[in-house]
Amino acid sequence: MQIVTRLNALRTAVKDLREDEKTLALVPTMGALHEGHLTLVREAKAKADKVAVSIFVNPRQFGEGEDLDAYPRQIARDRELLHNESVDLLWAPGAEEVYPTGYATNISVAGISEGLCGADRPGHFDGVATIVCKLFNQVRPDLAFFGEKDWQQLAIIRRMVRDLDLVRPQVGAIYGVPIVREPDGLAMSSRNAYLSPQQRKQASALPRAMRDAIATVSDGGDNGGALENLREVLRVAGFQNVDYAEFRDADSLARLDSDNGNARLFVAARIGRTRLIDNMPVEEPGK
Ligand code: PAF
Repeated sequence: MQIVTRLNALRTAVKDLREDEKTLALVPTMGALHEGHLTLVREAKAKADKVAVSIFVNPRQFGEGEDLDAYPRQIARDRELLHNESVDLLWAPGAEEVYPTGYATNISVAGISEGLCGADRPGHFDGVATIVCKLFNQVRPDLAFFGEKDWQQLAIIRRMVRDLDLVRPQVGAIYGVPIVREPDGLAMSSRNAYLSPQQRKQASALPRAMRDAIATVSDGGDNGGALENLREVLRVAGFQNVDYAEFRDADSLARLDSDNGNARLFVAARIGRTRLIDNMPVEEPGK
């Protein structure tokens, strides 16, 4: 695996990988890799000839008081994990390479960025859209892979690629990969590392409460009642706050009062100082 930290070297490395019209996939990450990321890498390997992974803890997507400094960094371990997956290229630039002095451009995807996580984290999705657009321009991959755990992020990236007529990758080549879950159902996340053993146990109430809410709605119960019950279950389990719990259309992310056949449940809840997010489809009964 080639490891590159400067743009000039990246251009040469990408050109070499693309020789003989080989296709290139990119898996953008912020490091602290876990099985969820490795699943993205494996999907990328199955669909492209060559795979690049980027690791960059993007300061522009962390708000004031968020965990930029505390964000887990374990580059040596990440390198080893990617090497074991036979990744071809690791793009790991420093902050100055990505945002040189005088950097001034921001990408903002209106509407779709505004509810759910966008409501609690002003500027977060501008930071995500900006870095992902830059990574796409830097690496110019044919395909790109993102986890469905950050469903809103995936929807925003697709919209950005479509709106800006990006060519590499095109919108149809942006793959969402289903959430990888721990045996107790908790969605894998780099932030799970912040949970104490006690909090980790309590956290498993989140996917359970979500499945129950979905079952209620699928059985004809109303969305409002199901969400009220979910909030109460999480409070009793030890969650300090539910930032949001909403049924939304899976594509437009429009809020839904009742199931429209394409609904998804989105939840963000805090346990101690850790904010967990998750989302699940509302399956039609009998599906
Ligand atoms: O999902 C992430 O890890 C980040 O938001 C991303 C897409 C790598 C951009 O920094």
